[in-house]
Amino acid sequence: MKLIAPSVLSADFGHLERDLQMINRSEADWLHVDVMDGTFVPNISFGFPLMEPMRKYCTKPLDVHLMIVHPEKYVERFCDAGAWSVGFHLEAVDDPLPILDMIRAKGVRTCLTINPDIAVERLVPYLDKVDMVLLMSVFAGFGGQKFIPETMDKIRFIREEIDRRGLQTLIEIDGGVNAENASELFRAGADVLVAGSAVFGSPDPEKTIREMKQ
Ligand code: DX5
Ligand code: ZN
Repeated sequence: MKLIAPSVLSADFGHLERDLQMINRSEADWLHVDVMDGTFVPNISFGFPLMEPMRKYCTKPLDVHLMIVHPEKYVERFCDAGAWSVGFHLEAVDDPLPILDMIRAKGVRTCLTINPDIAVERLVPYLDKVDMVLLMSVFAGFGGQKFIPETMDKIRFIREEIDRRGLQTLIEIDGGVNAENASELFRAGADVLVAGSAVFGSPDPEKTIREMKQ
């Protein structure tokens, strides 16, 4: 699959409706929603109050990426707030399985995420228990960072594992993605590319999204 999920983190929150209408018009597949708590990552973004206008004005599915400690306390509220998928970090929890169950029980798609310093092998036992895995290609916390090239081998490794076992699990890549590296990432086996600054910082965001899909 070749999906693009622009990250609303880089949108202009003073003109959120305008930016979301651009996403609606564009070939973007999902809207990526980055939630940061200031504890799991050294930055705070936004939380529940913005889920409401995003659900109201955005016609694309909301792909929620929780960069928070204790995701078990909040995943159900994000599901109720209209998330299409909810992901949290493997390294933020002791046992992801009961939290994945909470999300699935709400009828919402599940995603497990790891930062670049977490061994990609740690995702392997969960590949058949989630709808998607998200490999961070920068350290979670900020938009506008440089893509970490070592991510490429991790994508190939997970792709091989998913294909060998005949699974449908999607691979999402997040951080430093742009129109220049998108095709290489898809070729390595990524299904979904998140892009914040490359999309919202572009003079022609719709064109950039189109280019990334090619
Ligand atoms: C980083 C977030 C990313 C971020 C990507 O912690 O998870 O989704 O918005 O931004 P860019 O595309 O600018 O690297
Ligand atoms: Zn993200």
